[in-house]
Amino acid sequence: VPGLTHIHTGKVRDLYTDADDNLVMVASDRISAYDWVLEPGIPDKGRILTSLSLWWFDLLADLYPNHVLSTEVPAGAPADWAGRTLVCRRLDMVPVECVARGYLAGSGTVEYRASGSVCGVALPEGLTEGSELPEPIFTPATKAEVGEHDENVSFAYVAERHGAELADALRRATLSVYGRARDIAREHGLVLADTKFEFGLDPAGGLVLADEVLTPDSSRYWPADRWAPGHAQPSFDKQYVRDWLTSPESGWDRVADTPPPDMPEEVVARTHEKYVEVYERLTGRRWA
Ligand code: C5P
Repeated sequence: VPGLTHIHTGKVRDLYTDADDNLVMVASDRISAYDWVLEPGIPDKGRILTSLSLWWFDLLADLYPNHVLSTEVPAGAPADWAGRTLVCRRLDMVPVECVARGYLAGSGTVEYRASGSVCGVALPEGLTEGSELPEPIFTPATKAEVGEHDENVSFAYVAERHGAELADALRRATLSVYGRARDIAREHGLVLADTKFEFGLDPAGGLVLADEVLTPDSSRYWPADRWAPGHAQPSFDKQYVRDWLTSPESGWDRVADTPPPDMPEEVVARTHEKYVEVYERLTGRRWA
């Protein structure tokens, strides 16, 4: 594309810089799980996630600014970039995955079972997979280098690495945005069990929401009318793919770390349906 410089191809997104040194983020239809990019892609995924992020950014703008400058596709770009491209401002990214959890799931459940706490936050006894926590907690994780896994870390670790002031600001921002989003999701019949944010710093040192926000790739959404602790929740998000991948059905040996098999057509179709459904439930719009 004329005027764009390719800087990075991530697992699911491609990044460029434009002539004004802004970031151009193109969300593909690729899907990743357990650090693998799966085949084939999920039709419409990049556009659904981009659209949903924009919907959320608007609803959160009074709490925190975000990195989006424009949704205009750069001149000369392929036609299929429409709807999946965001021109964003460059920020000094904080290398911390800022996870908020209001319910126990995923690595939260694993840590809780082993230690009674998650990322150093002690939790009451008697919780189980899917339990609502007494209050939402901030459970940061490191951003892994290529080939490594993200690791949950404590608040103290973030404070030591990045300073107590920034750690505190990240926790406040993460929990306040999560709280707002959880309430909105609830009005739409969804439990927002957990989610991950990434923040950047603007030149004045202010926190800015970056990356994608509150998408089914970065969040667990459960149907509120079917939520019941004690077992894995029916999920509107990538959890469905993770569950298929780790089931005997897929035949994948996660421990051997060999490339996962291709997703069967029905897993792709079902995942597409879930992404569309969460988009439609939240925004109240039809996915055309
Ligand atoms: O797997 P875990 O329970 O730690 O994930 C917590 C939440 O953060 C989930 O909604 C997951 O999708 C999200 N997450 C993410 N990117 C990561 C790690 C977690 O979007 N690198």
